[in-house]
Amino acid sequence: MGLRIQPDSLGMMKKNKARIVVMTCYDYPTALLQDAVGVDVVFVGDSVGQNVLGYQGPKEVTMADMLHHARAVRRGVTDALLMVDLPYGSYQTPEMAVENGRQLVDVGAEVVKLEGGREVMAQVAALVGANIPVVGHIGYTPQTRTGQRPLYGDRADEAVGVLEDALALEAVGALAVVLECIPERVAEVVTEHVSIPTIGIGAGRICDGQVLVVNDLLGVNSDSFRFVKQYANLKEVMHTAFSNYRADVKEGRFPGEGHRFLMKNKELGAFKEQVENIVQVSRG
Ligand code: KIV
Repeated sequence: MGLRIQPDSLGMMKKNKARIVVMTCYDYPTALLQDAVGVDVVFVGDSVGQNVLGYQGPKEVTMADMLHHARAVRRGVTDALLMVDLPYGSYQTPEMAVENGRQLVDVGAEVVKLEGGREVMAQVAALVGANIPVVGHIGYTPQTRTGQRPLYGDRADEAVGVLEDALALEAVGALAVVLECIPERVAEVVTEHVSIPTIGIGAGRICDGQVLVVNDLLGVNSDSFRFVKQYANLKEVMHTAFSNYRADVKEGRFPGEGHRFLMKNKELGAFKEQVENIVQVSRG
């Protein structure tokens, strides 16, 4: 067991120029592995909807979904910080943000994340006031910008907005801010000018940390994005395994001798002596 990461650790890591590693996680076995390799923040993202539940978009994800997956991931996390997304529609007012944030904390979230900058300042302030650490998420925000071009902030007016959003989140006490799909030079300016850590996804190299979606990193998904580095081709591995299993069953190669349970001949004989009688009685 290593050192437990606390919400405050993120700010310390920025100060010490130690890069923050964040990965999305939706289940217990993946949580165990992410924790074991020393991922700093294990993150139950609302991308669970599309990656695991087969939803069309983030708007379909409910609080019940997030609570279910947060509980599973909580059981596998020992040292990492556990962050959980507030799903679409769960933080329309400061009161809702606190009520739903508390539910996530009750199942083990140590930090909650929500999308937005200036427009959610009241929600962030309310969460901070209720002692619920909160991370913001700006740039391309999937809950509200679904279907639009993924890159955001490549026009000067948008870049100004991104910086203003980051400063607004800092001012109301957000712990960190996710920067999604913005130009590297904009992320660099934001990272230099806010005291809270920036966690990039598609935001280039000059952020305080990086987050990737676990299914993208493992190559489980069919589509890939320019900003993703795929570290494995799990889709191919799974396809081969499933197809080999199917063929083995169809051809009678599985189960093999080594996969059987045996019984003593004496017990088998005693059992077989009773078979005819049992069948007759059962069928009347
Ligand atoms: O839910 C998610 O996967 C996210 C990442 C894109 C940061 O919010």
